[in-house]
Amino acid sequence: MARKNEVRNRAESRFKARRKKVLSRIKGEAAIFCSAAETTRSRDLQYSFHQNSDFFYLTGFEEPDAVLLLLGGTKGPRSVLFLRERSPEFERWIGPRLGTKRAQKKFEIDEVLPIDTLSKRLPKLLAPVLQTTGVVHFTPGLRKEIDELIWSGFSSPVNPRPGNPNTIKDARLLTSEMRLKKDRDEIRAIRHACDITAESFWKLARSLNTVKSERHAARILESSFSEFGGHGIAFETIVASGKHATTLHHHPTFQPLWKRELVLIDAGASYNGYCADITRTFPASGTFSSNQALVYDVVHNALVRATRKVAPGRTLDQIHQAAVSAITSGLVALGVLEGTVRELIALEAYKPFFMHRTSHWLGIDVHDISPISLNGKVIPSHKIPLEPGYVFTIEPGLYFDPKDKSVPVEFRGIGIRLENDILVTNSGYEILTEQIPTERSEVEKIFT
Ligand code: GLY
Ligand code: MN
Repeated sequence: MARKNEVRNRAESRFKARRKKVLSRIKGEAAIFCSAAETTRSRDLQYSFHQNSDFFYLTGFEEPDAVLLLLGGTKGPRSVLFLRERSPEFERWIGPRLGTKRAQKKFEIDEVLPIDTLSKRLPKLLAPVLQTTGVVHFTPGLRKEIDELIWSGFSSPVNPRPGNPNTIKDARLLTSEMRLKKDRDEIRAIRHACDITAESFWKLARSLNTVKSERHAARILESSFSEFGGHGIAFETIVASGKHATTLHHHPTFQPLWKRELVLIDAGASYNGYCADITRTFPASGTFSSNQALVYDVVHNALVRATRKVAPGRTLDQIHQAAVSAITSGLVALGVLEGTVRELIALEAYKPFFMHRTSHWLGIDVHDISPISLNGKVIPSHKIPLEPGYVFTIEPGLYFDPKDKSVPVEFRGIGIRLENDILVTNSGYEILTEQIPTERSEVEKIFT
């Protein structure tokens, strides 16, 4: 029990430390972070709730209808959490609410207030900031009522004036640098999400010949996530049989898996709020045809070459260029493109067949963190020098449209993507998802 409490306390003070770091960056200013909105699925029923990532990063709190206010002034409370009061009737139908009393202790917050006092209390709490710098960090677009409340501060015809905010800054830029570099607990959570996902891929691959449809395969995978201790899905599972794999984010259908075709599976478990994201492309029959093998090896080579580029100081752009170069050489070898690789790259001739970038950051969001500000400057993701603790994907692919007459007929309708999750380390990198093989002969061994 003592150990359990210790772990819980460490987790909670982690959120407090993050808030403290943000507070140190907003001297004399304020920041407002909202929980996500609930979305209606049908009449009085909601889609399952998914918390806003920055709000989660700073609080660990997973209820809707909450607002975190951080005040960088010197007087009064510095962190204020607005949340729903407890309600026996609501809790009978929907489930427990934390409520204001328990929240103060749990989150080590200076002040906890009921959310229905927000419109009255917010102007008073903001007053010291508004009378000095007038700078409020806030990202609109999450919840209409909060946008309107903040906006109402600007709506005087004589703005800017004392008592109203005069500058709104994107609050995402306050957390982006912190979120980019994962701490020990975050890495542990991502690693665990990857292990759960990889184990689930193994289980699905071994039973692929009994699977009734793409949708069935997706549900088997997701059920394994739960079986192996996952907390949910990181994003909607993609299972694409045959030519369906030429649609990048294909939604699984009731279509049976075509026996002689490939099956592209792109899925991830979530664990403690952190995501995994793995793609593998398997032969439904257990062995690749010779044409499938030719295309597969091009994508695999791109994966290997791009991965070898990873090191502290390198950028996602350099990793992408390595993938582009391997893919373009492969397209020439397959007879899809003609010309010199260098010219074809300059012309972006690979783009009809490899139309996405090779990498995205991975963390609380599967496509993690954007925009990113480093040392006070917004930098495009692909130009940021890698540092130990950064986590991202490498996922080259080739997609030959079934109707594209420029492609040799034997390759039309083939879609292949391979995706690993990578942790940058002091000496280079670690592949977090290599428990499930990518090399073609190793993949075929799964099925024997
Ligand atoms: N796993 C989906 C994607 O990265 O776009
Ligand atoms: Mn991905």
